[in-house]
Amino acid sequence: MNTSTSDPGHGCQAFKASMRAQWNTAATGWNAHGAGIHAWLHHSTEAMCRMAGVRAGARVLDVAAGSGDQTLTIAQQVGAQGYVLATDLSPAIVALARDNAARAGLAHVETRVADGEDLGVPEASFDAAVCRLGLMFFPDPLRGLREMHRALRPGGGVCTTVFSRPEKNPCLTILMSTALKHAGLPARDPFIPGGLLSLGQPGRIDALFRSAGFHDVATSAVDAVYRLPSVDHYLAFVRSSASPILQILGQLDAAAAEAAWVDMRERLMVFTTHDGWEGPNELLLTAGRRPLETT
Ligand SMILES: C[S@@+](CC[C@H](N)C(=O)[O-])C[C@H]1O[C@@H](n2cnc3c(N)ncnc32)[C@H](O)[C@@H]1O
Repeated sequence: MNTSTSDPGHGCQAFKASMRAQWNTAATGWNAHGAGIHAWLHHSTEAMCRMAGVRAGARVLDVAAGSGDQTLTIAQQVGAQGYVLATDLSPAIVALARDNAARAGLAHVETRVADGEDLGVPEASFDAAVCRLGLMFFPDPLRGLREMHRALRPGGGVCTTVFSRPEKNPCLTILMSTALKHAGLPARDPFIPGGLLSLGQPGRIDALFRSAGFHDVATSAVDAVYRLPSVDHYLAFVRSSASPILQILGQLDAAAAEAAWVDMRERLMVFTTHDGWEGPNELLLTAGRRPLETT
């Protein structure tokens, strides 16, 4: 899983093949937990759409769209006069996004299997672009942002959502450190490209937006507490859809993996409340604009 932006060749392709395979496996689980994910991210998704400038009639590019939860929100906001293109690296998850849009009767949604670092869409063909919890998985996020910049018409807006600092996302750090410990692997630098928390370092994502050519760059940190009836509901979500954790535990035999899940459950119990279970998360919403005149 380790990669580096200084190795955009074979290493990147192998990394993406592994990422695609992981999300093909996790696609059904991510989709099955769609209602919980929607509730978890509803407020931040509304903010992301606002910050990108999604409005009635707009043409919107949705990068790393997964099974399309935010795609459907955007499609409702742009209405039948608008258009949404939902793209993702994983063919299995794109198929689910297509089915979900069709079931919702949203004929102005199209889907496409595409690497976010090489979208293959025409230059300046969208009014707005979003990427919800996807950009941190890109081995070269600057390349992904340059692609969004290229896809936007001059004056068009973008907004991405990523996880913030490790200490603000304790559930993720517990899951990751416990999985690595049980797999006999050393602790990982959380900011290594392509990891869950890779864009959480203060100032990092703003710098990438500016390097990609965006103006009016601004980041807001938003609390996104994952509220569920119990820790077991959270573990059910993680066990079926949290692809980075599954990838690590996939190297263990069944008994060793089960011991890791038991350990994680114990550590995650700390977030149990009177009303159920409340896992803290902090997200970074970063907005920018393609300038009207390229300088
Ligand atoms: C955590 S899911 C988020 C899905 C969706 N945006 C959501 O919030 O429900 C991350 C998604 O990023 C996609 N992804 C990872 N690397 C990608 C890349 N290089 N290009 C496009 N999509 C990618 C995965 O296939 C997966 O669907």
